[in-house]
This record gives sequence, C-alpha cells and structure tokens, in this order.
Amino acid sequence: MENTTLIMPIKPRILHVASEMAPLAKMGGLGDVVQALPKALRQLGVDCRVLLPAYPCVLGNVEKNRLSLTRLRSPVHVALEWRVYSARVLRTEIDGVPIYLLEQPELFSNPTIYPMDLTESSALPFAFLSLAALELSTASRWHPQIFHVHDWPTALLPVALRWHRHYRKMGPDVDTVLTLHNLAHHGILPQEALTGFGLDASSFGMDGLEFYGQVNLLKGGILTADALTTVSPRYSWEIQTPDGGMGLDGVLASQKRKLRGILNGIDTEIWNPATDPVLPAHYRIGSMKGKDLCRRALLHRLGWDDDGSPLLLWVGRLVEQKGIDLLLVSVERLVNLGCRVLAVGSGHAVYEEGIRKAAERFEGRVWSYVGYNEEIARLAYAGSDMLIMPSLFEPCGLSQLIALRYGTIPVARAVGGLADTIIDADGSQRGYGFLFSDYTAEELVNAVKRAMTAYSDRRRWERLVARGMALDFSWKSSAMAYAKLYLELLGVEVSDLKES
Ligand code: GLC
Repeated sequence: MENTTLIMPIKPRILHVASEMAPLAKMGGLGDVVQALPKALRQLGVDCRVLLPAYPCVLGNVEKNRLSLTRLRSPVHVALEWRVYSARVLRTEIDGVPIYLLEQPELFSNPTIYPMDLTESSALPFAFLSLAALELSTASRWHPQIFHVHDWPTALLPVALRWHRHYRKMGPDVDTVLTLHNLAHHGILPQEALTGFGLDASSFGMDGLEFYGQVNLLKGGILTADALTTVSPRYSWEIQTPDGGMGLDGVLASQKRKLRGILNGIDTEIWNPATDPVLPAHYRIGSMKGKDLCRRALLHRLGWDDDGSPLLLWVGRLVEQKGIDLLLVSVERLVNLGCRVLAVGSGHAVYEEGIRKAAERFEGRVWSYVGYNEEIARLAYAGSDMLIMPSLFEPCGLSQLIALRYGTIPVARAVGGLADTIIDADGSQRGYGFLFSDYTAEELVNAVKRAMTAYSDRRRWERLVARGMALDFSWKSSAMAYAKLYLELLGVEVSDLKES
C-alpha cells in the first residue's frame, strides 16, 4: 500500500465545510479528521480546501502557529431570518491546504463551538456557515464541484440545494457528500426555523426534514446529499439497525445505495513514537527500549513505583458513548485483578467526579487527570501497556489507532470502528487486541483477564505489540477511497483510475 498512488485523470475541486478543524478549533475527533483528510487528499492530487468559522480560538491559533493570513477583497452575504449577515473571508494555509475563515464575530463567538441548547438563534451560526459555503466562490473566485459536509452542523448545505428558495438553482450544478461521524446528534429545531433559513414549507414532510413534529437537520442532509459516508464500514450498517440508528435507521436504510463506510486514519507524522517530541525516549519495532523508558517516566510522573502490574489507560471524552459508566462500575474488579488504571479526559461533570473519586478510593492503583493535556495524553499512550475502550457505540474511534501505533494493546468493545480495526489475539493468529461484545462489567473484566494472561507471557506480548505497531492506519488508503467517491460523483469512470 505504501507505494500505491492514484493517478487522477482530473483535479477535482472539493470544499470541506466543517465546524471544527484541528489545530485551529477542536472539540473531538471530527476536528482531527478535517485536519488530516484534506491534507491526504491534496497529496493525491485533489484540489481540496476547507471552510471554517473564524471563532476567537481559530484566530488565536492562527497567531500562535504564526500562520499567514490574508483577507479576500469581497465579503460574503447570507440572508437569514429576514436579515442579511455578512462575513469577511480570511485565507490561511496549513500543510498546503488552503483554509477559508469566515469572520463574523456576532455569530461565531461561542468558545465551546456547540451550544448547550439548540434553538433557532443558537443554530444561526451553523446555518450561516452552511449557506455561506454556497456563496464563497464570489469571494474566492474558486468554484468547488463538490461540497463535503460533516455531521448535523453543516447538513443544511445539501438541504438548501434542494429546498432553499435561492440556492436550489445551484443544485444541479454541484454535488454533495455528507460524512456521518456521530449519529447521536441530529440538530433538532422547531418547525419555525425553516422559514428563517429560507427553506420552502414543502421541505417539512416525512420525506424531508420532519422528525416527530420537529426539524431534524441531519435527516435532511441524509436525504439530500448525493453521497453519504460513515467513518468505518461497520458503522455504516450498524446505523441501519434500530440499535445503532438513533431513530434514523429507517431513513438510512432507505438511502443505503448512496451510503458507504470509509475508515478514518490517523496522521502518522503527528502520532509517531519514533519522533514524538513530547516523549522522553523514542522507539520503533525492533528497538523498543524507549517504550520502557516512557513507562518509567509515566510512573514517575504519577509518583508510583513499578510493581510490575500492567497499566491500563482510559483516554477520551467523558461521555456516555465512550463507555465510561462501564469502566467506573468495573474499576474495583480491575484493581483486584492486579491492574493499575489511568483515566485521562474531560466531559460530563458526573463522570469527572466519578474518575476523581475512583482515584481517591484506590490511591496508588487508580490515577485520574481531568482535562485535556496533550503532553500527558502522549506520555500515557506511550507509557501504558493496554488501552481500554468499552464504548457503547463507536463510529470509528481514534484512540485505539494511536494506542496501537504506540505499542499499547487495546481491550475494546466490538462495535463500529473498534470491531473494524482490532483483531482479537485469542481468536486469531494475526490478532493484537482483546474484544468483548456485551456492554456488561462481566465481559469487560473477562477481556482484561485475557489481556493479563497474555501480558504475563513476555514473548507473546512482545509479538502482539509488534503486530499492532506494524499496522498501517495512515490516511492514504482512506483518502484514496474518498478520491474515488468524488470521481464517481463527477462521472469519471473509476475503472479508468490507475494505481501504481
Ligand atoms: C466522532 C466519533 C468517533 C470518530 C470521530 C471522527 O467523534 O465519536 O468515533 O472517530 O467522530 O470521525
């Protein structure tokens, strides 16, 4: 795969429209994807650019990273709720990817990006972003052929191309891709929002945005986008079932011919234990001493001696999706098994309190860090032995990919992207992780027990670690799959593509 490249017969123009993009604005995995995918696509010869709101944090990060910033001559204007909102368009570039920033301080001022309550007025920034994307070419003089939107915050874009009194004219000339990163958030609004957004009343029906008497932006996007992708193949069918569909399974099943799962990758330059500047020592397959040194540095940081027990890391957002409830009810049993548990993350107050309390109760065996600290996270990935990921559902998951690259063996629930990326070491000769199915403490503890048995056999464990580290989770093959999708939408025969 390393040497395979796609010979692009044309250079498609793609605009990613998103509410997050690391390192400028990031709340979760979506931000990482919008950073890495356009970069990988450009390396394949796709003219891929990004449109992002110029939130205060974005401008701060542009300055911090000393990025060049120019202001385009013409602004963009969008009519919303019988008023015209204007934004200046700034342009910067990261890793060769042109990024347009919408400067509209009145709308883009929320430091947490997403509102606690979605209302007609708190939805305006997202509506503006979606519609301003359709106006961008007047300022940029660059005409995207495909708009690639992400999750509910930009789902109004494909909807507008079908039902907006003004933008529907553009519909036949452009294509849209909607990537579903997480079906848990739909963007639900009262019916009245539609008129303010400029949509026809006819858009509010069973075959439109209506969802139990309210407006569902994501549903609208699913129905109107030309193509849908999910961030792992397994998630693409899980969401067509009542268990995984979050109420949209029927709608998704009806659109399955345009739905495909493309696994996310990780930026293998940013996540590399052989070069990671944060780590006290570096390592690679065949030269693993550095991992032991990282483990020692981690233990030192926690104030713990090395008693030989495995370090089990939990890292991520402290939300229900990530299975933190399951970890909290199992923590005592994990400690009794002889593990030490590290929990790093932030999120809901009850869970933050939960991990703090566990650390107090099992002092010396459980450690918690509430917040996100890049340095601690990286040291923890490198210095831990296992990563625990008991997710309730997981569209893709990035932590298991990072952990594998850092030689840390995942113990995870076999859902979504976790099931797609981890092979159980007891179930297959090629395995390098430990999976469990049911969302129960019993199953989680049993999977950790199996991992501990493997851990106690040094030679076997080293083999698992090396196998995991050798996997290629770079963006290259995913970017190729997206490039093929774009070409298909543009009517370029994909069989014409050459891979060399
Ligand atoms: C969301 C999903 C996560 C996925 C990420 C990027 O955060 O919960 O599983 O990896 O989006 O697509």
